[in-house]
Amino acid sequence: SDVSKASAFGLDNVVAAETPLSHVDGEAGRLIIAGHDVEDLVAAYDFEGAVALLWRVAGLEPAPSGDDVRRDLGRARMEAFRLVPALLAATRGLSVTEGLRTGFSLLSDEGDLAAHIRTVGSAPVFIAALCRRDEGKDAIAPDAEVGHAADFIRMLRGAPASEAEVRALNAYLVTVTDHGMNASTFTARVIASTRAGMISAVVGAFCALKGPLHGGAPGHVLDMLDDIGTRENIDAWLVREIAKGERLMGFGHRVYKVRDPRADVFNKAVMLLTNGNERVRFARDVETAALAALKAAKPNQRLDTNMEYYTAVLLEALGIPRVAVTAVFGMSRVAGWSAHVIEQERVGRLIRPQSRYVGRWPDDKAA
Ligand code: SDX
Repeated sequence: SDVSKASAFGLDNVVAAETPLSHVDGEAGRLIIAGHDVEDLVAAYDFEGAVALLWRVAGLEPAPSGDDVRRDLGRARMEAFRLVPALLAATRGLSVTEGLRTGFSLLSDEGDLAAHIRTVGSAPVFIAALCRRDEGKDAIAPDAEVGHAADFIRMLRGAPASEAEVRALNAYLVTVTDHGMNASTFTARVIASTRAGMISAVVGAFCALKGPLHGGAPGHVLDMLDDIGTRENIDAWLVREIAKGERLMGFGHRVYKVRDPRADVFNKAVMLLTNGNERVRFARDVETAALAALKAAKPNQRLDTNMEYYTAVLLEALGIPRVAVTAVFGMSRVAGWSAHVIEQERVGRLIRPQSRYVGRWPDDKAA
């Protein structure tokens, strides 16, 4: 019917902006962020350094250094901690994901710390407080002297992170800061284009991110691994789920028609962290079987592993609760959203595409 035709649009291959922030080459399986191949960015920068780079490329004035961002994010975490009692009161019974959505909406655009710093700085404080609430534990105050990734693990766990853990979490956070015009980034740009401001753009973007077709996938990857349980069950489980028309979480991508390069970055990080323990080896076996099953069931679709598959394995290895993996994705991507908002506010216009009317004109003869 007309309605189903109209709703099939996914804006595939529609260019919605020109930007120096990132480029996703889906045929070559290559990701460039702020002029660096993602593998090189991870090797050269921690999260604060990558955020400074993105904000500089977005045209933020004065151009911040990595040290500026480290100092400002420390202050923003301390400031966000003052909001934790209000956050916990406002999110009783809500999941960590819904809790972070509410947390972002508690922020204000005004204040001595700029809104983009406030949004990035608040995420780890809110996520850690919400996870500890679920465990019946009190929130732990941030330490402005500790780096962003290290402070998140410390606030979550109540003990300092190891060097290897900080390195692995930084590799994750740097890798997922920005990724072309994905659904949540596009949402941020549309909201920013109406001049609604940074906080509104981030709240809307996070609402888009949390959907299972986008950032909501990693938790389901771990559920899949648990559901399969043993190597003997792998093939039967996959064939049954695909035959039911289920999407295998962690596979397929609108842009990548080959393996998502970020999966390899995370796989390397998780190998360094775990030395390839049984869970990682099992995940690798499930991945191999899933790719074969998808190829057999959908030979005309180019379905490969996307970053969410190894996001799940890496964040689990870091001891991040399954209920928080989407929020931790948002903790990094808020850097990309804020950079796109800075750019959109600097050079953009109101984003207002057209639609094609397939209804009835007033003088149509009754059908
Ligand atoms: C992220 O856009 C980004 O850049 C996103 C992201 C980022 O960094 O921001 O990379 C992060 O969101 C990664 C994707 C995480 N999502 C998942 O892992 C969920 C599972 N994947 C899918 O649902 C799917 O692959 C999408 C949503 C990611 C992309 O789907 P498309 O491009 O809209 O493709 P489609 O839904 O039109 O599917 C085309 C065909 C269909 O087959 P038929 O029904 O026509 O026979 O491929 C099939 C789909 O059923 N298919 C899958 C599948 N993905 C697509 N079949 C089984 N399992 C899957 N995972």
